Amino acid sequence: MARKKGLFIRTYGCQMNVYDSERMADVLRPLGYAPAASPDDADMVIVNTCHIREKASEKVFSELGRLRDAQARRRAAGNDLVIAVAGCVAQAEGAEIMRRQPAVDIVVGPQAYHRLPEMVARAVRAAGHRRPGATKGAGVLDTEFPVEPKFDHLPAPTTVTGGAAFVSVQEGCDKFCTFCVVPYTRGAEYSRPATAILAEARSLVAAGAREITLLGQNVNAWHGAAPDGSTGSLAQLIWALAEIDGLARIRYTTSHPRDMDDALIAAHRDVAALMPYLHLPVQSGSDRVLEAMNRKHDRDHYLRLIDQLRTARPDMALSTDIIVGFPGETDRDFADTLALVRDVGFASAFSFKYSPRPGTPAAMLERQVPEAEKDARLQALQALLGEQQRGFNATLVGRTIPVLFQEAGRKPGQVLGKSPWLQSVHASGPARLVGQIVDVHIVGAHAVSLSGEIVTDDIVQTAVTHPIEVAA
Ligand code: SAH
Ligand code: SF4
Ligand code: F3S
Repeated sequence: MARKKGLFIRTYGCQMNVYDSERMADVLRPLGYAPAASPDDADMVIVNTCHIREKASEKVFSELGRLRDAQARRRAAGNDLVIAVAGCVAQAEGAEIMRRQPAVDIVVGPQAYHRLPEMVARAVRAAGHRRPGATKGAGVLDTEFPVEPKFDHLPAPTTVTGGAAFVSVQEGCDKFCTFCVVPYTRGAEYSRPATAILAEARSLVAAGAREITLLGQNVNAWHGAAPDGSTGSLAQLIWALAEIDGLARIRYTTSHPRDMDDALIAAHRDVAALMPYLHLPVQSGSDRVLEAMNRKHDRDHYLRLIDQLRTARPDMALSTDIIVGFPGETDRDFADTLALVRDVGFASAFSFKYSPRPGTPAAMLERQVPEAEKDARLQALQALLGEQQRGFNATLVGRTIPVLFQEAGRKPGQVLGKSPWLQSVHASGPARLVGQIVDVHIVGAHAVSLSGEIVTDDIVQTAVTHPIEVAA
């Protein structure tokens, strides 16, 4: 057995990266790498990066600077620290990363993670030949889009913490919204076959998952092979998952309005385990801007979908992504966005200032919106979205709802979980509730969370001896 070595992974970006980071840890375990609590305790650090906006991307280089210093200290003491960069910045910038930060040993794109063990072995060998005091990294790079999908070669997840797990079902994107780097960093759309997904889901449920979130950059475009060999749809996949005993909650993210088909909407009506919450990015409320974004849907299409979803599932809560300051966006376009937000009423939302990304068509457009204008629009939009979120949270007060407790709370004696509508819920209760779904009476609503009292019979005693502390 190889000597135990520490591995620290820092993850930026979306849930796909979170899932991938776990797979990287799994694939390196046979080499003797076990999770380290911090970079200081690690023999290798992987920075799993996000390229979606400039800020996310630039953060990586300051982080790499700090890691270079840590590496130098380690080497001065006769040890080593292998530095690897993974994720979408690795894919987009490739060898440029090693030029900007020569201490980096490995650059690995998202489609090559199954080849990490070999890459790490090469980096460690190179370190063995390094002259004392040398600062240059091992120069191991792989950003190919391989023919064989990485999923066939990565070990399946084995552990579940807090009763909830992610399963990547779809990667890449063929939509080419004009602002977005994902089609370039993650490549063409690929759907995993249903049998592989169902097997992974079954083993996660056996390991304690009560909730599974299906992941994909375009998850509702999933069209993998069904068990009978035909091409499946996400609705069919959800029906098949719902048959797994013990799986109480199913979610999927992120969806594109173009791929919200009737069967998927009907699944929200008919599949009890499918949670009444959907993240459906709209990006803008202006048809002119949606067209320039190449979103392939207009405002009416989006509003119609929302109506259909609410008819199918009256308690459906919606969340979205919105970009302000896309090139050419006028005050009038922005007013259309605010009007759409008022029409829909979102339970939560992410909103961003448009960030020009190298190589994307929108970055080349004239009439880029001045930064100050973007700031003002973002502020106005976030004020409205914040008000809607607080309003939605307040509607839960006085109700008793099932909560999946996922971790110990920040205060001792508290547990923290998720409502069906993905709100964070705090309650006083014993740590043994983590991983369980428990009825909670909601007593307080806050900006981004709820607080409640556990009402399940055998817990009431505990609740009485530990009075509820309402989070500020
Ligand atoms: N596949 C998802 C979103 C992926 S990226 C979808 O189609 O909706 C997550 C969010 O980041 C996007 O929804 C968008 O709102 C935002 N985003 C993407 N590129 C951006 C850019 N160049 N500037 C600002 N926000 C961006
Ligand atoms: Fe990006 Fe558009 Fe694809 Fe979403 S659908 S990942 S926003 S290109
Ligand atoms: Fe970021 Fe890549 Fe995800 S760019 S949002 S980590 S797909």
